[in-house]
Amino acid sequence: MISQNFLNNVRDFAYGEEIKYRTPSKFQIDFAYQKGLALAEMLHANKEIVSAGTFLMDAMLGAAMTEGKPKEHAAMAEEKAKELFSEFPEITEEEKENILSCIRQHHGVERFSSLESEICCNADCYKFVSMEGVVGGMQHQRKMEKEAMIDLYLAKAEEKWNALSLPYCKRELEPQYQAVKALLQKMKENENQNKCNGG
Ligand SMILES: [Fe+2]
Repeated sequence: MISQNFLNNVRDFAYGEEIKYRTPSKFQIDFAYQKGLALAEMLHANKEIVSAGTFLMDAMLGAAMTEGKPKEHAAMAEEKAKELFSEFPEITEEEKENILSCIRQHHGVERFSSLESEICCNADCYKFVSMEGVVGGMQHQRKMEKEAMIDLYLAKAEEKWNALSLPYCKRELEPQYQAVKALLQKMKENENQNKCNGG
């Protein structure tokens, strides 16, 4: 059984990492969690598993980036999750495996091992494909050169659009993805123009 106490612990861990590394931002942590929860509600999935998954999936990203191995953030988060599980013996083996799958598969896979892991992946995509996610993400982004930020968000919009799998999310996000891409491309053009003008 997943207790509120465990979920508080997981959330506090994610927030604590945010204070240390500023990546992902608190906005992004809360945004992915809320999207995940709404999808879990709509699709009748296990909300506790999705909550734990969304809080943990990118919780080690800042630490992994600092260590120069960003691609390992999911594996590092799995290890962290196992550590956190050890203090909560009431969590069943099945629940543990499902939470670990949410973390492991949050960038997308051919075939998800659970509805909850698919929801976590799709919730993660909202950070870079939805207008609210992109505008909020940029607003709360740790300091970064404007041009590099535009390039990052363009690459992420593409990556996450391709990772989206749930028909509902694809339908909802298609026009937003087009708008986000158009906005970012326009921003990039303006930046290049400014450079040519010596500004
Ligand atoms: Fe990630």
